[in-house]
Amino acid sequence: MCGIVGYTGRHSATEHLIEGLRRLEYRGYDSAGIALGTPKKLFVEKRAGKLINLENSLGKAIPDAHSGIGHTRWATHGGPSDKNAHPHCDNEGKLAVIHNGIIENYAELRSDLESRGHTFDSETDTESVAHLLSELHKGHKGDLASAMREAVALLRGSFTLLAIHSDNPEVIVGVRRNSPLVVGLGEGENFLASDVSAFIEYTKRAVALGQDEVVTITPSSVSITDLKGRDLAFKEYEITWDSKAAEKGGFTHFMLKEIFEQPKAIADTLLGRLGDKNQIVLDELHLTKEEIKGLAKIVVLACGTAYHAGLVAKYAIEKWAKIPVEVELASEFRYRDPIIDKQTLVIAISQSGETMDTLMALRYAKAQGARVLAVCNTNSSTIPRESDAVLYTHAGPEIAVASTKAFLTQLIAVYVIGLYLAQVRGVMSGDDIRKIFNEMDELPAKVEQILETVEPLRELTRSFSQSTSVLFLGRHIGFPVALEGALKLKELAYMHAEGFAGGELKHGPIALIEEGTPVIAILPFGHEYSLDEKMLSNIQEVKARGAKVIVIAQEDIVVQGADHVIRIPGAPALLQAVLATVPLQVFAYEMAIARGNDVDQPRNLAKSVTVE
Ligand code: M6R
Repeated sequence: MCGIVGYTGRHSATEHLIEGLRRLEYRGYDSAGIALGTPKKLFVEKRAGKLINLENSLGKAIPDAHSGIGHTRWATHGGPSDKNAHPHCDNEGKLAVIHNGIIENYAELRSDLESRGHTFDSETDTESVAHLLSELHKGHKGDLASAMREAVALLRGSFTLLAIHSDNPEVIVGVRRNSPLVVGLGEGENFLASDVSAFIEYTKRAVALGQDEVVTITPSSVSITDLKGRDLAFKEYEITWDSKAAEKGGFTHFMLKEIFEQPKAIADTLLGRLGDKNQIVLDELHLTKEEIKGLAKIVVLACGTAYHAGLVAKYAIEKWAKIPVEVELASEFRYRDPIIDKQTLVIAISQSGETMDTLMALRYAKAQGARVLAVCNTNSSTIPRESDAVLYTHAGPEIAVASTKAFLTQLIAVYVIGLYLAQVRGVMSGDDIRKIFNEMDELPAKVEQILETVEPLRELTRSFSQSTSVLFLGRHIGFPVALEGALKLKELAYMHAEGFAGGELKHGPIALIEEGTPVIAILPFGHEYSLDEKMLSNIQEVKARGAKVIVIAQEDIVVQGADHVIRIPGAPALLQAVLATVPLQVFAYEMAIARGNDVDQPRNLAKSVTVE
C-alpha cells in the first residue's frame, strides 16, 4: 500500500526521494508525488500513474532542496488522479502532509474545517489532516511536532503521517498508529520511510517507531516522543539485508528472481534448527515444557498466501504434535466470538509483519489471554514486535507483490514448529523427527532440480494463455497448494482461477468444466495416504467432461489420462507442499508474461496491506 519517504540532509532531496519511492514501488501504487522543503512556499509535484509520470513532469526545473517528503499512493478515498495524489497542502502551500492508512473521521473534520474557511482540492481523507495541522501549527507557534501530537488526538483510524513546513524546511515530523514507519539514521542526514528498503542504500542503521509515537528528524538529530510530548529513548538496529537483495540482479522481474532464490531461502530458514544432539532448536518460542504440554489448541491467523501456509501447518502440526489446530483468515477472526484462552497458542504468519488484519487479530487474541508466536520475514516490523515470540523466516526482502519465497519459508517455519512441539510433548521419537528434518534439508536441492526443468512448463503455460478460467484440484496438502496456485494465477494473470479439494469436485465445481477448461491436478503425495487413486479418479471425471488436465505428480506415481504431467522429486507427503508449489509459481509467472501483465506490480494489488 502507500509508500512513504522523508529525507533531510546535505544531498539532493529530489534524488533521495525519487530513489526511495522507486524502492517502495513494489508495495503497489497508482500515483506518486513529492514536496520539497523550499522556503516561503513548498515545491509540490504529483502525478497519477507510475513514478515515471512524476519524473517526467518534474523535468529539469527542480529547486535545489535538501529536505522533503515523497509518496506513492494506493487509492482508498478518491480515485487515482493528480489531485488526489499526495502530498496534500494547506491553503497557503506552506505545509504538506503524506499519509498511509485511513482517517475514519475525515468527513467531520472536513466540514468543520470548511466552515472555518479552508478550501479543499481533493476527495481524499488525507487533505483534512493538512488543513487541521496547518491551523494547529499556528496555535503551537510553529512547533510542528506539538501540532502533530494535538492533531493525532483528533484523528480516528490508522495512519502513518509525515509533515513538512516551509518555515522550518529541514524539519520533518512523523507519527504512526497501526501503520508502519521506520527511521533511517545517517551521517548528517536522516530518513523516514514505510520500510527500510527506501533508504537501505544510504544507511543500515534503523529505528522502528512504536505505536502512537511522534518522531522529529533534522539533518543532525532524531527525537521521539509519546503523544504527551514526553521524550522516549529508542533502540537502533542494524539492517542485515543487502541493498543488492532489493535489486533484480539480472532477472527480468523480481518475481522470477525470488522464485530462483527459493533454495537458498529454505536453506537459510533451516539453518541452526537442528542442534548438536540432533534435536530441533526453537528457543525463540519461550514456552516451558509444561506450557507446551498444556496447550489445548493452536490457532493460526493469516491472510492470502500466508493463510495457505497456515492450512499446511494444520496438516503438519496435528499429525506430528497431536495438537488441534484451527486456521482462520485474520480478517474474520475478531468479528466472531472465537474461543481462545491462556492454553491457546496463536501463530500469526505474515511476510511483511504489517498486514493490518493479522495485526488486529493478534491484538484481539492477546487480549483474550492467548500467547502469540509470529512467523515473519521482516525484522522489527509491527507483528513480531507485538507478539510474545517470533520465528523469523530468512527469505530476504520479497519485492514482487506475488509472494513466492516467503511462502516456501513459511512452510519450513511451520514444519519446524510442528516438529519442535512433537519433540517437547514426546509424541514422536527422536529418530522420526530427525528423519523428517533430514528430508527437509534436502528440499533446497529438490527445488533447484524443479527449477532446472521448468522450460517445458513455460511453453505449456503459453498454450493456455487465452483460457478464461483455470481450476486447481488437490487433496490433503495438495488442497492448500491448489488454493495457492489459484491465488497466484488470479493475482498475476487476472484470470478466473479457483482451487478445490478433489473430494468436493462432484459437490458442485465440476459444473464449471467445459470443453478445453484447463485443470491443474496436484498429486504429490505418493501412496502415503492412498489418495493418488482418488485424485486419478478426479482426473478421469474432469477429462470425461472435456477438461485439459495438467498433473503435478511425484516421480513414482503412474498417471493415466493426463494431457501433460509435470514431475517433481519425491519427499514425504507433508513436505511435498514445498515442491508442488514451485511449478504453480512458474505457471502463474509465465501466464502473466503471456498476457502482457505487469508481473511485479499487478493491477490493484499492494504488497503490504496496511488497511483493513
Ligand atoms: O505480508 P503478509 O504475509 O501478511 O501478506 C498477506 C497477504 O497480503 C499476501 O500473502 C498476499 O496474498 C500476496 N500478494 C499473495 O501473493
